[in-house]
Amino acid sequence: MKTGVCYYPEHWPVERWSVDAKHMRHLGLSHVRIGEFAWSRLEDANGELHLDWLKNAIDVLHAHELKVVLCTPTATPPRWIVDKHPDMLALDEHLHVREFGSRRHYCFSHSGYLEECTRIVRVLADAFGDHPGVVAWQTDNEYGCHDTAISYSSHALKAFQHWCSESYASIDDLNSAWGNVFWSMEYERFDQIGLPVGNVTESNPAHQLDYWRFSSDQIRRFNKAQVDIIRVQSQGRDVLHNFMGNFVQFDHHLVSKDLDIAAWDNYPLGFLTRDSIDEADKERYLRTGHPDGSAFHHDLYRGCCGARWWVMEQQPGPVNWAPYNPSPLPGMVRLWGWEAFAHGAEVMSYFRWRQAPFAQEQTHTGLLLSNGEEDIAAQEVAQLNRELLLIDDPGGFSVVANVAIIFSYSGLAMQDIQRPGGAAFSALTFCQSLYSACRRWGLNVDVVSPEASLDKYSLILVCNHTEDDALFAQRLMQCSQGPGRATIVLFPGSGSRSQYYTAPEALPPGNLQALIDVRVVRSESLPPGHTMSATGTKQQPYHCSQWRELIDSSLSPDARFADGWGFHYKNGRVHYINALPEFMDLFRLTGELADEARLPITDLGPDLRTQRIGNYRLAFNYGAQTADLEKRLGSVFNFTPDTSLLVGEHQLRPAEVAVWMVT
Ligand code: GAL
Repeated sequence: MKTGVCYYPEHWPVERWSVDAKHMRHLGLSHVRIGEFAWSRLEDANGELHLDWLKNAIDVLHAHELKVVLCTPTATPPRWIVDKHPDMLALDEHLHVREFGSRRHYCFSHSGYLEECTRIVRVLADAFGDHPGVVAWQTDNEYGCHDTAISYSSHALKAFQHWCSESYASIDDLNSAWGNVFWSMEYERFDQIGLPVGNVTESNPAHQLDYWRFSSDQIRRFNKAQVDIIRVQSQGRDVLHNFMGNFVQFDHHLVSKDLDIAAWDNYPLGFLTRDSIDEADKERYLRTGHPDGSAFHHDLYRGCCGARWWVMEQQPGPVNWAPYNPSPLPGMVRLWGWEAFAHGAEVMSYFRWRQAPFAQEQTHTGLLLSNGEEDIAAQEVAQLNRELLLIDDPGGFSVVANVAIIFSYSGLAMQDIQRPGGAAFSALTFCQSLYSACRRWGLNVDVVSPEASLDKYSLILVCNHTEDDALFAQRLMQCSQGPGRATIVLFPGSGSRSQYYTAPEALPPGNLQALIDVRVVRSESLPPGHTMSATGTKQQPYHCSQWRELIDSSLSPDARFADGWGFHYKNGRVHYINALPEFMDLFRLTGELADEARLPITDLGPDLRTQRIGNYRLAFNYGAQTADLEKRLGSVFNFTPDTSLLVGEHQLRPAEVAVWMVT
């Protein structure tokens, strides 16, 4: 793994650039990302280009043997472009215009803006595509950030009507697929179709789902238009995009099809403070981030582009955008770096080089203070880089996981539309709990698209593939058969809606009934705090909350709730878990499933984590107590008093990392 940094030469005097480049090298950095917000300095209202400074910046970085990741500047269209195309601004769900004055103020469906984008990308790719210092390109910046994945502009509407006319053979087909007869919502022509917002009450769910799909397609189209140009004019360079954390507003698997590398922006403390609903976790991991927060995303993005992934922006200290922005515990910046390595990152790049003394993000730290002196993180990064030199693995750095969590972006969107899990249920959070349960057992996990090959897994967990997908059911069926058969686990909502958001005729889980005889005859959602216990032959009951299904089946359930509803149906190694166990019970259940799948496991507790990559194993301490690795990893991971560590100690202190070779 190499390290890098996000740099804004346009923010600093030209004399400073070589000082900075030298300093970057001194810290052991090798990659520098530049240019993603620089459009106003590259081209002016008269159409005049100003590329000399950028050439100079790339030359300076290259002269210091730094590898440049050049960005397309399309996330920040300058004022003159907005003046030229006043209707290119996106509209939010209240149909308010998202005005100029910050960033991402454009609608993916505006063809005039797309032309401006392809023009500037062509200019840049032409000027710098062959520059020996440029090793990769980043398209735009964080598609969807600040809720910009979906726009409700008149351009989006026109494009959506066209999308519908391409997706359905006739307007009657669309009416019937969407069930428009329901409230006399039938259309006579495609150009009558409206936006699924501003309706008196709930818009048709099929309409909402198609609008979500359309919006994902628009992002893919926008991204691909840039990628296609770069591929021709900058051959041999990787093209990537920087995705976000805890963000599922478009189909990242789809957009990744056109990229070489899936990069993502990792802000562990910001994500926890902003997104977690668990107050105890927020307090416990205030200065470390959640032990599974970064890892989940590493494993998700590793599944996007054939295992090639980077961290493009990594938190170096307090950020500016969460409601509260604590400082990380000393050591965490280094730990997060090692953790990215352990999950297979090619590059870990920090945001940003130097704290900005002006404009929007002044309280966001960098590797340098705003005055140019080193900030705390710089030395942790330097240490990481020195330690990474110890790694030399002729066997390569691939992550091998026996567990797959199926992750379906459209499935998550579907669960969000009619909310079968209730108002407080988050399908993403549940998926992350399931991931945490596996990780607490010490398992390596792949988080993969429903299209991914599933042959190599012993345990396959399906928690948000809501679509009734015949092909997927068939593929799962193959995995459930034969001598090396996998344990397959289906959770509520699996296969519960067709692609047009209708219930399967056979009832949920639709085609998955071929694997196990269960029919969901009722689904209920429960308010926060309401827990129900299922008891069976096992000593401890399962405490469930949020979402429960009533099952009709020839199989007898493993346990029953007091009102007689069954819990947990099994057919050989296929399981249907028809309610959501609270975390510790989910953890216990996951352990039983891992045992069935013959995976070696041990309870690492809430704070210790381990991951194997190639011939290395690493351990990370996210807790406040020192962890005794011999006791905690012991026989399962073959950690003995003789285990010799490349990095760290057998008594692993808080915010510390251990790295060793396994034979
Ligand atoms: C990211 C973004 C960066 C910067 C950063 C601050 O979302 O890509 O440009 O704003 O957050 O943490």
